[in-house]
Amino acid sequence: MGEMSKKIIYSAVIDSDEAKRAQAAADASANLNADQIDIDSMKITQQYDKYTDENHEVWGIIFKKRMEQLAEFGSNIFLNGAKVINLRADRVPPLKDVNRRLQECTGWSSHGVPGYLPAKSFFAFLAQRQFPTTVTVRPKAQMDYLPEPDIIHDVFGHVPLHADPVFAEFLQTYGKAALYTHNPEHTERLARLFWFTVEFGLIHEDNKLKLYGSGLISSEGEGHHALESKDVDRRPFELERVCNTAFEIDHYQPILYVLESFEQLRDAMVTYAERVLDEAGRLDELESLTKSAR
Ligand SMILES: [Fe+2]
Repeated sequence: MGEMSKKIIYSAVIDSDEAKRAQAAADASANLNADQIDIDSMKITQQYDKYTDENHEVWGIIFKKRMEQLAEFGSNIFLNGAKVINLRADRVPPLKDVNRRLQECTGWSSHGVPGYLPAKSFFAFLAQRQFPTTVTVRPKAQMDYLPEPDIIHDVFGHVPLHADPVFAEFLQTYGKAALYTHNPEHTERLARLFWFTVEFGLIHEDNKLKLYGSGLISSEGEGHHALESKDVDRRPFELERVCNTAFEIDHYQPILYVLESFEQLRDAMVTYAERVLDEAGRLDELESLTKSAR
């Protein structure tokens, strides 16, 4: 058992044989090549009746507090998506409900996983328009900061954007490129791209700077620091530059990149994915995607 399993086993929500089997499958998938990865083997049921009153309460407290800033400074795409997938303050979101609503917009869906996934397995989910999500809720004593992701980071922070067709296409294209590349240089560049967009991205909307990255959406401290601090270098998004920028974890982000639109991100990603997948001999992956998504 790794460190991560020890850390997350406190939750009744994932204390099951199913979760143990799924984590074993996830760990074993690290040795598989892209075409052998079976994402279904890593999924777990969201045992909704196991959520405690404290779980629902913590979700609600953070949801309401974050919405105070996000109502004005959250990207319209985030706010619209949160409404579409029916995120509410009064309960932890049931993934079944989220997915029913998401399916109608973009065909994306979210699936419970027990904890840590190897990188390629994470990308294998994205490549199929599926998002692996933790289902645990942070304890009340750690409401402000939890080092590992929980359902507040994953579903509140990430999933609303999946309701947007342009972001949906970007993320699947990203997943295909990251899954099939064999080139460690591309792998590192793609990790940086993910960090500076999906996790910590800013966007100009309505002549304002707004938040869309999950790390900014789901964290009170990061969200305010990103928009208000004088110590942040906010740079216009440019894919090459983003891919060449190293990132630092464990403290507030000193560098952030600002999109002008999600089309800008999608188009830059499609161009980069063509290069990556061509080098990997998997350009067909992009063609099949383009047909299904457009
Ligand atoms: Fe994340």
